[in-house]
This record gives sequence, structure tokens and C-alpha cells, in this order.
Amino acid sequence: MDEMSDYAAELQKKDIRLGLVPTMGYLHEGHLSLVRLLDGKCDIKGASIFVNPIQFGKGEDMEAYPRDEELDIAKFTDEGCEVVFCPSADDMYPDGFQTYIDVEVLSKPLCGLFRPNHFRGVVTVVNRLFNLTRCSVAAFGLKDYQQAIVIRRMVKDLNIPVELVFGETVREDDGLAMSTRNSYLTSEERTLARLIPVSLNWAAVQASSGSNDCMRILKGMREILVSQPGIDIQYLEAVDTETLQPRRSINNGVQILLAVNIGKTRLIDNCHICHDREKV
Ligand code: PAF
Repeated sequence: MDEMSDYAAELQKKDIRLGLVPTMGYLHEGHLSLVRLLDGKCDIKGASIFVNPIQFGKGEDMEAYPRDEELDIAKFTDEGCEVVFCPSADDMYPDGFQTYIDVEVLSKPLCGLFRPNHFRGVVTVVNRLFNLTRCSVAAFGLKDYQQAIVIRRMVKDLNIPVELVFGETVREDDGLAMSTRNSYLTSEERTLARLIPVSLNWAAVQASSGSNDCMRILKGMREILVSQPGIDIQYLEAVDTETLQPRRSINNGVQILLAVNIGKTRLIDNCHICHDREKV
């Protein structure tokens, strides 16, 4: 922790810009693509690995969250990271810690409805990581679309001097968004999970063929998702790309966001749909 602070202070003194990819580890290609996204945007690339307890709710999978710090550090290093910051929970939340950030409105709908303190935990840790590493640029994935919007709001509202860059969702060959939690799926569940990108692609095709009715598109997506037993839809919504408020018509484009449970695994995904694009 002190080592990171000293190093960050040293970089700042020399006007060296650090780029950061904050993660909870157990890396996949999506995380590594974010490291590459920093190319040309900073002088030194870095990453953090921290399974953040305050963004998990009661009964969530914090303890079971997969970890392999040694392998993760090797992967980040191979990708060109010169710093990998792996704080402990005591480093991040020492005795007496009591200051939290709440992005009030954007944190409420969608995932926020089912994970009430989740985004408070996310933005609090992200702000702390920004302060500790003194990074100039930070990269986040758009698979966690609501998270990206909430972090962007915090950075704006608190005048945090960090440039944000967002990476497109990286998908498996069959379209399933890469996620650490995919590793929890049994092979039958993994087969079912394929219906998620199928439903999103169907929505994109509907929009590009002229449909403007979000309700009709969501209904069709629902039918695809429940066409085989095993997917329990937590939410499926078409929302404004900026405000995350529900939208009835596509007009200039909407973001479709969903969360589903397959067995014990909760997966999220999203896509932008509009009238002139065909594929997620
Ligand atoms: O997206 C994640 O992995 C986490 O929510 C983040 C941004 C690293 C904060 O813990």
C-alpha cells in the first residue's frame, strides 16, 4: 500500500501518466483488451486486483469469487503492465473507514434494484483506487454498462482528474459476453447461456429492420430467453443510454440491459440497438 502510494507520488512528480485497469482479478480476454485500450493514452500501464467486499450484498458470491493472483499478475505483466496493485481489504478499508460515495439516481434502477448497495461499493472503491494510484486514465468495460455510466457520473460530479476510456464487450465465439462468472456454469447451463446473445442479436436485427416499439422487442427477447427451461430473467429493459430511464420507442437508439439467473449464476449483458446497425 505504502509502496503504491510512494510510487504514484514519484510518477506524478516526474509528470509520468499512469493508466489503470481496475479489476477483481481472475482475468479473461475482456480485462486484457482494456489494458490494450490504454496504449497511447498514458506513459505507464497498470492494473489493480481487489475483490471489493463492499460491493457484494448479503448472500452474494464474495467468498466463492474465483481468484488466481499469481496467474493474473503474469497475464497483466505479459500485456505490458508495469504496476499491478493488489491491496488487502485492511489496506482499502482500515479501521474507522466510514466515507462512501453514492451516485444517487443512476445507481437505483436495473442492477441497483436487486443489489441495493452495489454501486455505492463500486464507486467508493474506484475513487479510492484513483486516489491511491493517482492514475491519469482508467479503463472500464461496457459489459458492465450501468457501472460505466455510474462511474462516469461520479468522475464528472466530483471533478476527478481521471480520463475514462470504455472498452467494447468481448465475446466468446458463440456470442456470450466474457465474464469471470461464466466459470461457474455447468456445461448444460453454458449451452443455455447462448440464448442471451441470441436474444440481443434478435433485438438488434428488429431495430435495424425498422421496428420502433421497445415493448414488442422486449417481449420477443423474453420469448427467446425462456424458450428452454433454466433461465430466470431478473430484469430486461430498454433504457435511455445516458439517463438509464425506461424508453418505449427506439428513435435514436436505446440500450437494452438484462440480468438473468442460470442455476446459481447471475449473468448480465447489454447492447445498443438503433435503426442502422444489425449486430450486437
Ligand atoms: O468491474 C469490476 O471488476 C469491479 O466492479 C471494479 C470496477 C473493479 C470495482 O471493484
